[in-house]
Amino acid sequence: MMRRTRVVDILSRENAGGEVLVQGWVKTKRSSKNVSFIQLNDGSTLKDLQVVVDETLPDYTLAESLSTGCSVSVVGSLVESPGKGQKYEVHARSVELFGYADPEEYPLQKKRHTLEYLREIGHLRPRTNTFGAMARVRNAVSFAIHSFFQSRGFIFLQAPIITASDAEGAGAMFRVTTLDPNNPPMKDGRVNYGEDFFGKPAFLTVSGQLEAEIFALALSDVYTFGPTFRAENSNTSRHLAEFWMVEPEVAFCDLEGLSELAEDFLKYIFTYVLENCGEDMVFFNQWYDKSAISTLEGIVSSTFEKLTYTEAVDILKSSGESFEFPVEWGHDLQSEHERYLTEVKIGKPVIVTDYPREIKAFYMRLNDDEKTVRAMDVLVPRIGEIIGGSQREERHDVLLERLRQTGLDERDFWWYMDLRSYGTVPHSGFGLGFERTVQFVTGVQNIRDVIPFPRTPNNAEF
Ligand code: 4AD
Ligand code: MG
Repeated sequence: MMRRTRVVDILSRENAGGEVLVQGWVKTKRSSKNVSFIQLNDGSTLKDLQVVVDETLPDYTLAESLSTGCSVSVVGSLVESPGKGQKYEVHARSVELFGYADPEEYPLQKKRHTLEYLREIGHLRPRTNTFGAMARVRNAVSFAIHSFFQSRGFIFLQAPIITASDAEGAGAMFRVTTLDPNNPPMKDGRVNYGEDFFGKPAFLTVSGQLEAEIFALALSDVYTFGPTFRAENSNTSRHLAEFWMVEPEVAFCDLEGLSELAEDFLKYIFTYVLENCGEDMVFFNQWYDKSAISTLEGIVSSTFEKLTYTEAVDILKSSGESFEFPVEWGHDLQSEHERYLTEVKIGKPVIVTDYPREIKAFYMRLNDDEKTVRAMDVLVPRIGEIIGGSQREERHDVLLERLRQTGLDERDFWWYMDLRSYGTVPHSGFGLGFERTVQFVTGVQNIRDVIPFPRTPNNAEF
């Protein structure tokens, strides 16, 4: 049996000639005079392959009946295309239909559909140019993430998805339980989680950081890359309830070392995308953000700006801008503030450090001023925060104090405290939001359109 050739491999051939077997879905078909032209797409590239079916062929009637969405198998000879816009075309010898798609019913038409509409047909949107390109860019960014850390000797760690601890201390967790919600076991008037699957309350993880710290304090350089879950009710264009995060954790590293790593990391990803996703990036640049490519090129050759939180607050206060949320030292920066800093004021990525302790997680290292912690957020134009990280509190007594102040139960973190009792070292890490990265790279506005199956409040379709 003949082996299928992917369209991307056909189009990268040096020369035409020979016979090929191509299989895919019909993008469009038009018939003129005595031939039918089928634009065939197999998802291996944005480009369609033109298949020419001559009326003298036994399969001509079949070819003529094809419409958008039909799946076909074509054998034919690969020739140079006289037409504009394509290098090669296939002159069919045989055309076989796998599955018909009735044009009266098929939800994808030739015309451009809105992204909102495409979200309702999540099972078919991968067949559009946008979501094909999206899937390929996501794939390339994932590969770049692994190759960056692998080339630096980091160990890829698989952090658990089910956890009993609230890593961010923010309480926005999904509960994992096998108890019957209509008839849970009770004790002293409350649900008795002692009888639940794990014998105690369990949740979907919000971050793999705490487990990454465990391994960093043995293997020095590790990273996680996996799904994380947040039950925040924030219906914004930058929040998902399920998203992927990349979390490097580095022993013997302070905040300066960490911000250098973050800058190198982002530049590596953007360079990789520019070098390997040319065609898909031209597509996003044309249809979604005219500055997508130039923004990436600019960043790759720039040096990130560094500001302390206090400096950032001063800049925002004296900016003369009227923000929706007031700027006050001690309040978290809102998305509008972050975007003003990186987009308007600085015009490139900004690393903001040393936030007030009250607005950051318990594990961040306390500064000598006892007011701020060694936190670091990387802000980029259009998105705002793309990375959040910190140097970790490695001093047992200081950490204990912080846990108590935050109202967390130190018994839940006995192992985390143990790491500070036995061979503690300065260490640091950050989390990169994978979808925000893809959003930034492609210029696509809504985070729901850069993940295969978005999970947001009131939406877990497909
Ligand atoms: O700033 P965050 O909450 O940091 C942490 O979770 C740390 N434990 C990371 C670490 O130090 N190892 O989240 C990190 C990044 C954010 O900067 C953002 O890009 C992304 O994760 N993120 C989200 N992305 C999509 N939807 C959400 N709801 C997100 N929440 C955070
Ligand atoms: Mg954050």
